[in-house]
Amino acid sequence: MAERFTKSMARNMYMGGSLFFILIFVGLTMDTVRQMPDRDNRENLTEAVAHGKKLWEDNNCVGCHSLLGEGAYFAPELGNVFQRRGGDVAFKAFFKGWMNAQPLGIPGRRAMPQFNLSDEDLDALADFLEYASKINTNGWPPNIEG
Ligand code: HEC
Repeated sequence: MAERFTKSMARNMYMGGSLFFILIFVGLTMDTVRQMPDRDNRENLTEAVAHGKKLWEDNNCVGCHSLLGEGAYFAPELGNVFQRRGGDVAFKAFFKGWMNAQPLGIPGRRAMPQFNLSDEDLDALADFLEYASKINTNGWPPNIEG
């Protein structure tokens, strides 16, 4: 056994360690990509959902809200608002009522602006939020009140 910790030993540990973890990283990335088709809810990716996503972006909803954890933390997470507010039966009615009622104007409560969107646009946004809520995220967000 070498008595000294040589430069070449240090280099081998650095190179070997890096290679080992790069291989793990590549393996996990490939595993994620392989699982995507079964998990990303692509079978429900309709024209209306795509239109809803565009409205979501154009109106900068993510400037206040998060979606599946990404975004701002001023307002509630919306990746699970579909389940939180009625699901299949009542969500669309809740959503349209909510959007049309803004701003609520309750003192001391954080306010959301009025976007003046058409009925058709509200339908598309609701479809987009429903679509997002059915992506298999391993149970994220962990809390229904998000
Ligand atoms: C300026 C910040 C802001 C922006 C931009 C914004 N919201 Fe909100 N939103 C809020 C706040 C604050 C609340 C919570 C208000 C409350 O509880 O009275 C809220 C609540 C909601 C809720 C109800 C959530 C729940 O759990 O019941 C929905 C749905 C919603 N927003 C959708 C949207 C959509 C869709 C957009 C983009 C078109 C948007 N918001 C843009 C601030 C914002």
